[in-house]
Amino acid sequence: MSDRLFIFDTTLRDGEQVPGCQLNTVEKIQVAKQLEALGVDVIEAGFPISSPGDFNSVIEISKAVTWPTICALTRAVQKDIDVAADALREAKHKRIHTGIGTSDSHIRYKFNSNREEIIERAVAAVKYAKRYVEDVEFYAEDAGRTENEYLARVVEAVVKAGATVVNIPDTTGYCLPQEYGAKIKYLMEHVDGLSAGKAILSTHCHNDLGMATANTMAGVLNGARQAEVTINGIGERAGNTSLEEVAMILKCHRGIGIDTNINTQKIYPTSRMVSSLMNMPVQPNKAIVGRNAFAHSSGIHQDGVLKNVQTYEIMNPKDVGIDDNAIVLTARSGRAALKHRLSVLGVELEGERLDATYQEFLKLADKKKEVNDDDILMLAGADRAAAHAVKLDYLQVTTGMGVKSVACIGLDIAGEKFEASASGNGPVDAAIKALKNIIKRQMVLKEFTIQAISKGSDDVGKVHMQVEYDGHLYYGFGANTDIVTASVEAYIDCINKFKK
Ligand code: KIV
Ligand code: ZN
Repeated sequence: MSDRLFIFDTTLRDGEQVPGCQLNTVEKIQVAKQLEALGVDVIEAGFPISSPGDFNSVIEISKAVTWPTICALTRAVQKDIDVAADALREAKHKRIHTGIGTSDSHIRYKFNSNREEIIERAVAAVKYAKRYVEDVEFYAEDAGRTENEYLARVVEAVVKAGATVVNIPDTTGYCLPQEYGAKIKYLMEHVDGLSAGKAILSTHCHNDLGMATANTMAGVLNGARQAEVTINGIGERAGNTSLEEVAMILKCHRGIGIDTNINTQKIYPTSRMVSSLMNMPVQPNKAIVGRNAFAHSSGIHQDGVLKNVQTYEIMNPKDVGIDDNAIVLTARSGRAALKHRLSVLGVELEGERLDATYQEFLKLADKKKEVNDDDILMLAGADRAAAHAVKLDYLQVTTGMGVKSVACIGLDIAGEKFEASASGNGPVDAAIKALKNIIKRQMVLKEFTIQAISKGSDDVGKVHMQVEYDGHLYYGFGANTDIVTASVEAYIDCINKFKK
């Protein structure tokens, strides 16, 4: 019989910490339900003490999700644990994830403390969390750079205090796979509570050196039985281990003898949903879910695949939910077809929201022949902009080679209409200058990315922008078949997020 690896998804906590990836509560519930359908065992829903929004999201996700365990993060601080326990009150299965830094640099510089005191604080936090919930996970932050002998003492102490899972994060993504694997092996061999089955070890690897998945697998092969992962590998800095990679490694390498509960056919739709809601593009060559992950471009490879698909494919795209025969939506598709396709992608729309999205779909389908999954996910999220104070009414740009571009813009600001025009060095420059003639603030455009158009000149272009205002950075997103309009929408998205 094969062993079971528990999948702990932290897309909504470590993943959502990424600047520009913040979701509102409704969007988080949508992702959480999709994670439940995907089959994850634990959903880390947030860090409740960090903000009222996080607190509220943990409550709402707890209500919306049935069988996965809902987990809330805390520091080893009583107030954090009180707030987390309160946020988890509606969860059917709940876990508190508490912890403290254990590497010498964390102990000295972050806590101005010493090793013995850190063990005391760790034990006290676990015991305190145990007053509220049975299932307590402890994280030894920066375990990757913590000396193994001391780490084993910490793990032994927290397991004795009642921790059911002990997380060994490679917080800085520093470890080599053999080093991380040896760390897990050392703990398995030197901590009595682990061999006695009182707790399991968890991996939590960051990707700073591109080794997150390799380190996670090294941990699993040496005895860890929970892996902490995110969809598309999103997360702090270079990200976390990606769920899809771990799930597919274990599916492709049956010989390892470890299974997960992941319904792999839901991987691709989940990836699309997270990418679309977080406005976080997936790199084209990303393993499993990248646009090119199953594309064979060289002649030799294409020839081989046509003769026998196994020559160059180690997994079937259908196994991860990529369906080449998916229905393509056009202007003649009905509401039911749109509803069905959205449902396959994990978005359930009914009533007025479905009607509104369908009307937008018809407008888009008039502009492009075929409407793809990215487009309809974008349309389904478009109502997020409806509540914004600043809206784009119209935009007209005259541009060409050898002439200066001129833009006229109309804005609706909380119901009042404004118009302005400007000339500029190209259409986007002209349009943004015209916008700034209405909104006269000291804003500086810091980053401007146009996502590559992949499927034809009528495709929707996606723009990400970062604008600095009043000492803060704001992230905005726009999507439109007209790339200049998408750019202005992204700029307006930033403005709508300004704190004052
Ligand atoms: O990377 C890390 O150490 C973490 C902990 C808070 C679990 O995210
Ligand atoms: Zn982390």
